Amino acid sequence: MHPDFVYLDNAATSWPKPDAVAVAMSEFLSTRAGNPGRGGHALARAAAETVEIAREKLAALINAPTPKRVVLTHGCTDAINQAIQGVIHSASKCAGGKKPHIVTTAIEHNAVLRTLHSFKCDGLLEMTIVPCDSEGTMSPDRIADACTPCTELVAVSHASNVLGTIQPIHEIMLAVRAKCPEVLFMVDAAQTAGHFSVDVQRDDIDLLTLAGHKGLRGPTGTGALYVGPRAYPDCCTNTRMCCERRGGTGAIAPGLEMPTTLPDALEAGTANAVGFAGLVAAMGTLCESQHRTEMMHTKRLLDGLLGIPNVTVYGKETTEGRTPVVLFNIKGMCARDAGKILDEQHHIAVRGGVHCAPELHNAIGTKSDGGVRVSPGCTTTEDQIDCFLEAVRSMASTPAMS
Ligand code: ALA
Repeated sequence: MHPDFVYLDNAATSWPKPDAVAVAMSEFLSTRAGNPGRGGHALARAAAETVEIAREKLAALINAPTPKRVVLTHGCTDAINQAIQGVIHSASKCAGGKKPHIVTTAIEHNAVLRTLHSFKCDGLLEMTIVPCDSEGTMSPDRIADACTPCTELVAVSHASNVLGTIQPIHEIMLAVRAKCPEVLFMVDAAQTAGHFSVDVQRDDIDLLTLAGHKGLRGPTGTGALYVGPRAYPDCCTNTRMCCERRGGTGAIAPGLEMPTTLPDALEAGTANAVGFAGLVAAMGTLCESQHRTEMMHTKRLLDGLLGIPNVTVYGKETTEGRTPVVLFNIKGMCARDAGKILDEQHHIAVRGGVHCAPELHNAIGTKSDGGVRVSPGCTTTEDQIDCFLEAVRSMASTPAMS
């Protein structure tokens, strides 16, 4: 890596990870790397203990009523797939041939949009994508208006991964519940967990998905799906979400049926225990001042970019109601080329393109090329932000050169 390398792609994955992450993962591999929940021996028990600590920490983070309702996954996309597929299959079984209707939004990531689209193409659901405004904000009333008596699920991102716009989740929930009290409300917290408060009880969320490797600063391959009682009642009957993965769970289950109690019902196969060891260590280092630092850098970035001729900044012009993410373009320069120049000539890592969120780019008019997304982290320095702004200034003053 170049000695002056600057990493500004924390919305894709946070980096560097806290030192404690590598230490914990190495220690886990050396002393605790049995198969969690499989076998009663000491190494298996030690691994299971690590996994359960991760579950407890994640449950506390999102204020889950019990850790049992936190299903550990291999990432946020994995959690989203399990949630959507589980709801669709369950609804299809109960609806007697009637297709469930799903409401989602233009700010969603492809993890949601492609999953829904493929079920729609298979004739298994009807779907409505509610548009956003030019700042990437969703209107609670428009989402509620899109709901019908057949709506089974409303799936909304907590924050756009492209513009950083944080959505009024509580107000969306209230508007949706006023119209359809029993609809399942799913929130994708990929971009907010670790940065902002996520509270499944306060916001009456039925399904919440998160990634361990972004704001929580853990390793890739870790994530979670919260499953609330409306989706999966305590009695484990009349569930509105069925299991999409079958296999061994480690629980005593002599028959061919999956266990029905959470989390085992939705958690087949060996967990990424070494990853969760790293995630536990990462979560132990989280503190409020990290987020303040990220937002301070975001303000410097925004103010700096807004002052550069030939640069267009998208979304909100302030740091209010946003994650540490800024999207921009340089006049006459394709976003991917800008990202390449920043990487190859200035040793600065950003993400150019459409960021797996095509509907959002359609909405803000950056459809074909996308934009350049810059996302500082808590270890970013002011000098690095200035170095980035200087690079953009020089690129924007000679766009034809690209
Ligand atoms: N979802 C990640 C991003 O927004 C990968 O870049």
